[in-house]
Amino acid sequence: MRHLMSPLDLSVEELDTLMDLAGDIEKHPDKYAHICDGKRLATLFYEPSTRTRLSFEAAMMNLGGQVIGFSSADSSSASKGESVADTIRVVSCYADICAMRHPKEGAPLVASMASSIPVINAGDGGHQHPTQTLTDLLTIRSLKGHFDNLTIGLCGDLKFGRTVHSLIEALVRYNNVKFTLISPEELRVPSYIREDVLKKNHVEFQEVERLEDALPDLDILYMTRVQKERFFNEEDYVRMKDFYILDKQKMELAKDDMYILHPLPRVNEIATEVDSDPRAAYFKQAQYGVYVRMALILTLLEVKLPC
Ligand code: CP
Repeated sequence: MRHLMSPLDLSVEELDTLMDLAGDIEKHPDKYAHICDGKRLATLFYEPSTRTRLSFEAAMMNLGGQVIGFSSADSSSASKGESVADTIRVVSCYADICAMRHPKEGAPLVASMASSIPVINAGDGGHQHPTQTLTDLLTIRSLKGHFDNLTIGLCGDLKFGRTVHSLIEALVRYNNVKFTLISPEELRVPSYIREDVLKKNHVEFQEVERLEDALPDLDILYMTRVQKERFFNEEDYVRMKDFYILDKQKMELAKDDMYILHPLPRVNEIATEVDSDPRAAYFKQAQYGVYVRMALILTLLEVKLPC
């Protein structure tokens, strides 16, 4: 039985296979419409979510399966003090696979150790968000056709942004991927990403503060939200929240084929006037999230695929 805690739980070859499967699901959805008949997904969300929870639920329904779960800790017995280990032991009796989001780093890992069904980390605190990374990779591959030799700009909250950490870890495995890390001093990537992921893998990267300086060289710009829920005080959040606003004027500095990704939700960091730019790929990205989660469910459940 396999779980997914980090994008590194899948080899590059397995990622390719998964993205090929997601591509086939996109092209031939009818082939997969009953492949999970009789199977159940449990969505255990101890933290708010729109895309991840609903795209997991849509994914299982698209496969013919059913969904059970809760969307907040308050509406589960966590509010009475039940541990994630006890919760997953019980949920293992009710479902075949589980997606868990939790505000505490490592909680899905703890759950996986007590589980008798596959557990998918659907975001744990400021740590990892592997299924967002699968979504991001599928989006980049669909738009660019490859990962090698791309210059990727990551902008915003690089300190607490779990999507950023997971994406960097996944992309360093490809050839000659370069990173431009765009953030205020206080929100730079954690040192383990700089030292143990980027430097250790001899990956070329630069850290800059001004988005305008970085834009002309980028192939992909990955914008992120400054996350209010990760700040310890309101004052720091207010100071940082509008540090970056991508608007039409700034987009004039970018290449004609520089695509903008964002895990969403967006607050102010991308002006809505950018949404009509053909390079704005963030809503398409959310759609890819369904295909890739369908492919992941099939992979972890080891479902026999149609020809
Ligand atoms: N991208 C993402 O994780 O969105 P949600 O928080 O809405 O799930």
